[in-house]
Amino acid sequence: MKKLSIVSVLVLAVVAWSCNEDVRRTPGHVYMPDMAYSRAIETYAPIDTLAKQGIHYNRLPVAGTIKRGELLPFPLAKDKTGDTANYVQSTHIANPLPALDAVQMKEAERLYLVNCGICHGTALDGNGPLYKGGEGPFSAAPANLATGPKYVTMPDGQMFYSVTYGKGQMGSYASQLSTTQRWMVIHYIKSKQGGGKQAAAVAPATDSAAAKPAAAGAATAAKKPAADTTAKKK
Ligand code: HEC
Repeated sequence: MKKLSIVSVLVLAVVAWSCNEDVRRTPGHVYMPDMAYSRAIETYAPIDTLAKQGIHYNRLPVAGTIKRGELLPFPLAKDKTGDTANYVQSTHIANPLPALDAVQMKEAERLYLVNCGICHGTALDGNGPLYKGGEGPFSAAPANLATGPKYVTMPDGQMFYSVTYGKGQMGSYASQLSTTQRWMVIHYIKSKQGGGKQAAAVAPATDSAAAKPAAAGAATAAKKPAADTTAKKK
């Protein structure tokens, strides 16, 4: 009797095993159905009714919201065509970012080279590969940000206005660069103007922790040659 029950249990187990198909047709209990079954939307199907059904995707942030850690948005709106009131007003807006330290300046340079260098050139002289002194595919001469008198004296705020809303043949860079990144790039441009004189003037003003080791490094670097000369004198 005992043998029979053991055999029957084994047989049942084999039967149960063989019934288990590779393809399961029923998913069993689904804990979070939203994750298991996607809502099928056909390509190019009208999506205007989705919000009514409570399906939200790819939505823009609510107007006026600012992401964490981002600077406040530029207070001036884009001028209407033919109007320059806000463009003129933008000269009064100062760069809200404090002077950049060496690491931030390197990043600002990278952003400039990626987004602006193609037209304004690596030397900021307005002669990037897209313009090539008038030969390039881009016909409008980009501003000479390095030495053009108009741009050397152009306040940060007005540069920001043009980079944010576009100017002439130059488009807006508001979607490529965040508010902070745009102000950083302007710091970079300003640091390069006048043969980079402003960069040197700006450096001691930084009181960030990052600037301190650099200053200390500079001090030791300054000391070293002095030590060397005394060594030579001996
Ligand atoms: C597609 C080429 C192109 C690119 C890329 C480009 N610019 Fe320009 N930029 C121009 C042209 C052309 C002008 C001259 C516009 C005018 O005065 O009509 C200009 C003008 C400017 C001015 C002067 C604006 C003024 O108010 O007169 C600034 C500042 C400037 N660009 C900064 C930038 C920065 C920063 C970037 C990168 C984020 C950038 N540009 C990317 C073509 C470009």
